[in-house]
Amino acid sequence: MNPRGRTGCKSALLFFGIASAALNGCGEQGPESSQVTRIAAAHGAGAVHVAAAHGTAVPASEEINPRLLRRFLPLPDPRIATDGAEAAKVSLGRMLFFDTRLSKSGDVACNSCHALDEYGVDHRKRSLGIGGQEDGRNAPTVYNAAGHFTQFWDGRASDVEAQALGPILNPKEMGATDAASVVSALSSIPGYPPMFAKAFPGSKDPVSFPNVGAAIGAFERGLVTPGRWDSYLRGDANALTAAEKKGLKVFLNSGCMVCHTGAYLGGSMFERVGIVEPWPNQDDRGRAGVTKNDGDKMMFKVPSLRNVARTGPYFHDGSAETLEDAVKAMGRFQLGLDFSSDEADSIVAWLRSLTGELPRTYIARPTLPPGK
Ligand code: HEC
Ligand code: HEC
Repeated sequence: MNPRGRTGCKSALLFFGIASAALNGCGEQGPESSQVTRIAAAHGAGAVHVAAAHGTAVPASEEINPRLLRRFLPLPDPRIATDGAEAAKVSLGRMLFFDTRLSKSGDVACNSCHALDEYGVDHRKRSLGIGGQEDGRNAPTVYNAAGHFTQFWDGRASDVEAQALGPILNPKEMGATDAASVVSALSSIPGYPPMFAKAFPGSKDPVSFPNVGAAIGAFERGLVTPGRWDSYLRGDANALTAAEKKGLKVFLNSGCMVCHTGAYLGGSMFERVGIVEPWPNQDDRGRAGVTKNDGDKMMFKVPSLRNVARTGPYFHDGSAETLEDAVKAMGRFQLGLDFSSDEADSIVAWLRSLTGELPRTYIARPTLPPGK
């Protein structure tokens, strides 16, 4: 890879404080910090300091430093209830997720934009809501989203329960007039009130707008997709191919895991998009739209890389069509690295290993209660 800025062990350790520099050369002497020094230090600094100078010529068979792997975690077990009110809530949430009657026009459901058999996305640059209106942002996947530290690209909802109420009332998405109209639409479908009563036994008014969010959220908490990557993290060295391990090394050597870290390889912090070079599309204020603080302009939630090979197009603005393009853009705009096609392909090979298993039974389309 071609570093665009000053490089070397010293600067890499200084700015990243990460073990990526420890991989090939600088490492064993270097202070392997147990804390990721956020790249925030480099914001606006102009010069780029990355651990890129060491190249990627590692034997493909070489295993990854286990201390580096500890930056990632296997997916937590979703622990899905099989009986009682909790199970009733999940099954109600599944129905609501698929029910187009939550939308004003009667033809848009959560599943329209987050197709569960398509890894939770619509594969559009921007989603289409009621009346074919285009959404302002690319739809992220709902798989594993419940585990993120916050919801939406800009973090304007704290959890999936709160998040679920947004799109129902969003005029460009499902366009319901207000919470009362949603409650009255659901109350008029004879099958729903008894299901809400079963799912929320303590509620005086079980069919309520917050309970709609609680049920959908309970269902979303089960949308977890473990795969080969989790087996690898649990110690099965053969769960990844040599080519995938090589790609993982390029990812680590480049410093990508400073932001894409943890169980979700993302979903744990906001970061600016366009740290080294300004992001070409400056239309979206990102987190600044929520905080009203100009310092948060172009800050977005670092997206999870779980299932990323199946969730294109990429970025909040849908500007990268392919994963190769997205990886190259990240190298350039976040890290100041010009990846060769081989390097980008190598990272992509590893990213493909992050595709997990869809929970086919859990996501099977339920029979919805008929209207009156
Ligand atoms: C018209 C398309 C559309 C519909 C319908 C829709 N969404 Fe979304 N969803 C989006 C878009 C676009 C975003 C990103 C918006 C943003 O971040 O500002 C999003 C974001 C999300 C997120 C946040 C994920 C993350 O990683 O931050 C979740 C969870 C989610 N939607 C669940 C739902 C649920 C539940 C429903 C149904 C109640 C629903 N969506 C209906 C398009 C849609
Ligand atoms: C400084 C933090 C940071 C670093 C370093 C970083 N990323 Fe990102 N990444 C982000 C942010 C923020 C986004 C969301 C940007 C947006 O949509 O505007 C993102 C988005 C992505 C996406 C698109 C995901 C999606 O669902 O749309 C991919 C793929 C990706 N990064 C891979 C990488 C790779 C590979 C590297 C290393 C070459 C890397 N990133 C380095 C912060 C970072």
